[in-house]
Amino acid sequence: MSFPKDFLWGGATSSAQYEGGFNEGGRGKSQLDYINLIPKEELDEHTKIPEVTYERYQKLIRNEDQFNFPNRRGSDFYHRYKEDIALFAEMGFKTFRMSISWSRIYPTGLEELPNEEGLKFYHNVFQELHKYGIEPLVTMTHYEIPIALTNKYNGWESPEVIALYVKYTKTLLDEFKDEVKYWITFNEINMMLMSFWNDGGIFEAKAKKDALSTKHQALHHQFIATALTVKYAHEVAPNCMIGGMINRIECYPFTCKPEDVLDTMIEDQLNLYFFDVMARGKYPKTILKYFKEHNIQIDYVDGYEDILKNNTIDFLAFSYYLSNVVSSEQTAEQGTFVKSLRNPYLKFSEYGWSIDPIGLRISLNKLYDRYQLPIFIVENGLGARDKFEDNTVHDNYRIEYLRSHIRAIEEALDDGVDILGYTPWGCIDIVSAGGAEMSKRYGFIYVDADDFGNGTYNRYKKDSFYWYKKVIASNGEDLD
Ligand code: BG6
Repeated sequence: MSFPKDFLWGGATSSAQYEGGFNEGGRGKSQLDYINLIPKEELDEHTKIPEVTYERYQKLIRNEDQFNFPNRRGSDFYHRYKEDIALFAEMGFKTFRMSISWSRIYPTGLEELPNEEGLKFYHNVFQELHKYGIEPLVTMTHYEIPIALTNKYNGWESPEVIALYVKYTKTLLDEFKDEVKYWITFNEINMMLMSFWNDGGIFEAKAKKDALSTKHQALHHQFIATALTVKYAHEVAPNCMIGGMINRIECYPFTCKPEDVLDTMIEDQLNLYFFDVMARGKYPKTILKYFKEHNIQIDYVDGYEDILKNNTIDFLAFSYYLSNVVSSEQTAEQGTFVKSLRNPYLKFSEYGWSIDPIGLRISLNKLYDRYQLPIFIVENGLGARDKFEDNTVHDNYRIEYLRSHIRAIEEALDDGVDILGYTPWGCIDIVSAGGAEMSKRYGFIYVDADDFGNGTYNRYKKDSFYWYKKVIASNGEDLD
């Protein structure tokens, strides 16, 4: 039982949470530039995912300079990419997952021609990665959309955004096809169901349809945009592989009562329908039935059946953090991502996320059984409030979490699952998506910055840095 020789060990980030330089190099603003740090005392008023309502947005833009927008700073990769990539290389990374900021390439999304300075920045980054033999894995959009498209079209609610997105992804493929082999069209496409703002740049108040229909309508547009991107990539960049991505939540029935098992199956079908559309090329009947039962109305794009059928993704990408318990009887309490019952057999992180490495092995098997496509685990990790002392962090808790998940991956490989690689989330500390805070950290590398942008932004190696370096050097054999 061992990892394949060419297994892609690495780490993952996103532009909105990491890059910074929001007003440099001709970049336009994205909707994630409008997520402000919500003071703890106001937290109860808001969902855990920072939803920016139309009302809230109006308040934010009236006095922009009075709010704290951590995503605009990120961890300053924009100015420090050489230093960071050298640290990734020191850990032995074979791959590095990052995203491109759409509004750095097309500042409003509406321009005819791309922003040359933006293209240059990413050429420089890819060049630096290749200098160390690190293969970039690029998310074309990690929750981001130019704010101008939110204002003009209400984001992904409108079909017009499909062509604007495809113009952008064609530019990326034309420009970077020789530098980037692995691409993902949308980060966690299924998170649209949780947040209008993050995944869709949509104001619910302005939507033409009810909430559920709007979400599935926007998803339909993203499915078409994915398929058209795949089509173009297969034509002009046959060496590239295009992946689709979900946030995988493994579901367990609360008891062995058939009703619980049935509800768990339905929950699972909902989680997997995204891959069904992108990898099998059609909406499954179970979901069409679900649409009918919930009166979900979708205006399908002309010719969508052929577009989806003929342009399926080349690999599956997913993030995995936790698992979920489903009961047909009890009213579930609000969990972090989905309504979830507490699993009495699992431990939880200080942020209340269940820790379940076996769930990862189950997910890997289930996905491979169902789709028979190579799989990339592109996010996994433990968010914690690290204690910085003596210029380091003693993060044994993180090592334990990652060790158990790497063991689960090894077991899944032994089960026969085809796994391309593993990129733990936030390999360097970045802004958290949930709370827009710096204090929730995932990295192997500590960044000296707080929630308000105070600090030197200098980088320090945590204990996990040295541990992960050993893991990669031994190709997963030395996990101690
Ligand atoms: C994933 C997202 O869902 O979870 C990331 O793709 C996010 O953007 C990560 O940062 C961890 O969530 P959080 O809220 O702890 O940052």
